[in-house]
Amino acid sequence: MPPSDALPPGPSLFATFDFIRNPFRFLDTCARRYGDWFTVRVPGVAPFVFISDPAAVREIFLGDPDALHAGEANRPLGAFMGERSSLFLDAPQHLRQRRLLLPAFHGEQMASHADAMRDAADNAIASWPRGQPFPIHPQMRAITFETIIRAVFGFANDSNGAELRVSLKKLFALYSSRIGTLFSLPAMQIDAGRWSPWGRAVRLTRQIDSILYAEFARRRKEGVEGRADVLSMLLAARYEDGQPLPNNVIRDEMYTLMLAGHETTAATMAWIVNRLVTNPDVMERARAEVLLVLGDQQIDASHVGKLKYLEAVINETMRLDPVVPNIGRGLKRAMTIAGRELPAGVTIAPCIYLVHRRPELWPNPEQFDPDRFLESRQTPYTFFPFGGGSRRCLGAAFATYQMKIVIAEILSRVELRKVDGYEAHAIRRGIAFAPSEGLPVICHHSKS
Ligand code: HEM
Repeated sequence: MPPSDALPPGPSLFATFDFIRNPFRFLDTCARRYGDWFTVRVPGVAPFVFISDPAAVREIFLGDPDALHAGEANRPLGAFMGERSSLFLDAPQHLRQRRLLLPAFHGEQMASHADAMRDAADNAIASWPRGQPFPIHPQMRAITFETIIRAVFGFANDSNGAELRVSLKKLFALYSSRIGTLFSLPAMQIDAGRWSPWGRAVRLTRQIDSILYAEFARRRKEGVEGRADVLSMLLAARYEDGQPLPNNVIRDEMYTLMLAGHETTAATMAWIVNRLVTNPDVMERARAEVLLVLGDQQIDASHVGKLKYLEAVINETMRLDPVVPNIGRGLKRAMTIAGRELPAGVTIAPCIYLVHRRPELWPNPEQFDPDRFLESRQTPYTFFPFGGGSRRCLGAAFATYQMKIVIAEILSRVELRKVDGYEAHAIRRGIAFAPSEGLPVICHHSKS
């Protein structure tokens, strides 16, 4: 562990509890008190050195992946994902595996998932109560969950798919519960039988594994030609030496894609709804664009690229309400970053939330103004809701595509309104920070 005087000052352990209660407020307070660099200490893990200087972010994203280990910093995120997940690997294994995943997430692949995304949104919208408050975040989770089951796992509606849905839903409900948030601590990973939280997670994971391995065997036998889902693409992928990905690697990646892709996108869509209902002018402008682009058609792949204002709304929401407020890189050797010496052993944490609020980059930073994204281009070091460098989110195109389809579908079909007296603040749900109380809204009438 590096000596404490080698690191920038930071909040006490007591003050750090606020990161759990109200993370965005905690980060604002630290930036006010300590500036661009501060150290956050949590017992049992390496100190986190938070930075919000874009020059330092640039050096980190362009830095040597052998010295800046994201995989190591990500480990506390998901105990059941498996150690062969690309999220937890570091160079050179990380690069080798990421190369095989990339084609499935290329922008051009997205069109094949448009129907799955729209159908998931339609089914959810049809179930919303009219005229009374309901929490919309769980609905967004249902939409992203179903989309991943179809587009990533390639299960439409067969019986295996049904079994997988039930077990995965239980596992993710457990993981995003209060107790599940503590699963990253080794002390919580004790299997004291089926009634203990970790014991339940272990048993659910076994059930899911057996469904997945049976499916891998079936598809390997029958072939995957003509299938566009991510699982089938991974089954067909080959390393440079011609070897296929082993089943246990594909298994770990499937858990990762579900976990990394489902909560993050759902929480971001909840924040977008929050920004729309609290900014009615923006909502009407976005709706007008959607209605103009769609005409009397249902949304499909041909419309997505034309929704420019909606994309700006999504970006402006991710600027102000990033569901992953910081990323991490474990320092393997002492390094000088933006002129500051840092010892090996710390985790350096580029702070998405704070960089996105710097007044010299974003005039009037607290103001929600999607036009910023129509008027000027950002750099990867001033706007990075999906992280950056060789670790940038694999699912960024997938998430953006899905958010455009789902929000456009909502805008074209129903009218959402704010619940009087409700003010959102961020709370942790799984690996993402979502609006408090599930974000209650009122759905006033259906336009379909
Ligand atoms: C709005 C939604 C999303 C947000 C805000 C988000 C954000 C992030 C962030 C901040 C990282 C860390 C990047 C870094 O360390 O530099 C990341 C990594 C990752 N994300 Fe996402 N993500 C989203 C959706 C998705 C989706 C839909 C998928 C897949 C279905 C996905 C798969 C991944 C994977 C596999 C990684 C690890 C990449 C690597 O280490 O090489 N994400 N994401």
